[in-house]
Amino acid sequence: MKLSKAYLFEKALAVRAQIALLPGDGIGVEVVAEAEKLLQAVAKKFGHEFSFVRGLIGGCAIDATGEALPDETLSICRASQAILLGAVGGPKWDNPSAKTRPEAGLLKIRKELGLFANVRPIKASPYLVQASPLKTEIVAGVDILFFRELTGGLYFGESGRKTNPDGSETAFNTMIYSTYEIERIVRLAGQAARGRRKKVTSVDKANVLEVSRLWRQTFDRVMQAEFPDVQTEHVLIDAMAMHLISKPKNFDVVVTENLFGDILTDEGSMLPGSMGLLPSASLGADGPGLYEPIHGSAPDIAGKGIANPLATILAAAMLLRHSLHLETEAVAIEKAVDHVLSRGHRTADIAGGGPAVSTVRMGELVLEAFLAV
Ligand code: IPM
Ligand code: MN
Repeated sequence: MKLSKAYLFEKALAVRAQIALLPGDGIGVEVVAEAEKLLQAVAKKFGHEFSFVRGLIGGCAIDATGEALPDETLSICRASQAILLGAVGGPKWDNPSAKTRPEAGLLKIRKELGLFANVRPIKASPYLVQASPLKTEIVAGVDILFFRELTGGLYFGESGRKTNPDGSETAFNTMIYSTYEIERIVRLAGQAARGRRKKVTSVDKANVLEVSRLWRQTFDRVMQAEFPDVQTEHVLIDAMAMHLISKPKNFDVVVTENLFGDILTDEGSMLPGSMGLLPSASLGADGPGLYEPIHGSAPDIAGKGIANPLATILAAAMLLRHSLHLETEAVAIEKAVDHVLSRGHRTADIAGGGPAVSTVRMGELVLEAFLAV
């Protein structure tokens, strides 16, 4: 058989990858199902071979195995090129005396796979500025890329409890960072800024915390030595909480430690209007990246078929871009999402009380738009 040049070229670009799907709890199951359909369509349209392997994490894993992150799930993830996760948690597992919580699964997978960089883009879609609780002139044009350090700080520092002589209790958590941990996240932020507006804001609490003073020194050293072309600034976390909603357009790339980043990105998610739209990537030095929506398992609407699948679909786009290096495919999904929003289709969370489509219908609309381009 004689193959045309075009055919050989296409074949050369074909990618074979195993993708781990960890739907987790609540709406995680519904939104991952829609993103999986999109990934299947990407494979078909662009001639790639994706295989999907499912694993348990969170509450469903606790029910089945007693562990929030069973070893089997971890092995599946290690053998995959990328991981797509839904969400974990729910009232069923909220018992304070429980041996393990669903969230422990998330913390463990981050640590085990060395996923130290949590990348959270916060971009206001022009079609949805109305959905933001903030004034249009403040949010229109917002485009921030957060780098949240994910495997250090208070989340992983030494912690404990002790009983005092009078029978009362004391508990503690430690915020701890080494220069190495700070350097590697700062570098990623610097590199990302080069492809954007060339500005990095580092957020800390250096007026109070010793660990923040090390963070600030390290940030300055790395940026001056390796990214002299990138503009830098320091903002204290309390001021940042304010600036993020009063002048969000001032920020390009923001880098910060684990807990500050956790809080700021939830706050930032209100800029585009709904958490239902925001994807995130958790990346390590090597090995598979983990992609997920930034929203949680939303137990109040789980199983109703009304959750917004767009954040997870956009997380799948990030997966294609960062782990499989399929930029064209990622952009095609992002364009399809944009198109669907531009045509006025909305799930309940962004419909403002107006007509809303179901989770599955929203997935279909994106799929149709993807196939049409
Ligand atoms: C997040 C979540 C997690 C975190 C929880 C569920 C452990 O809030 O991914 O932002 O605090 O990191
Ligand atoms: Mn969070």
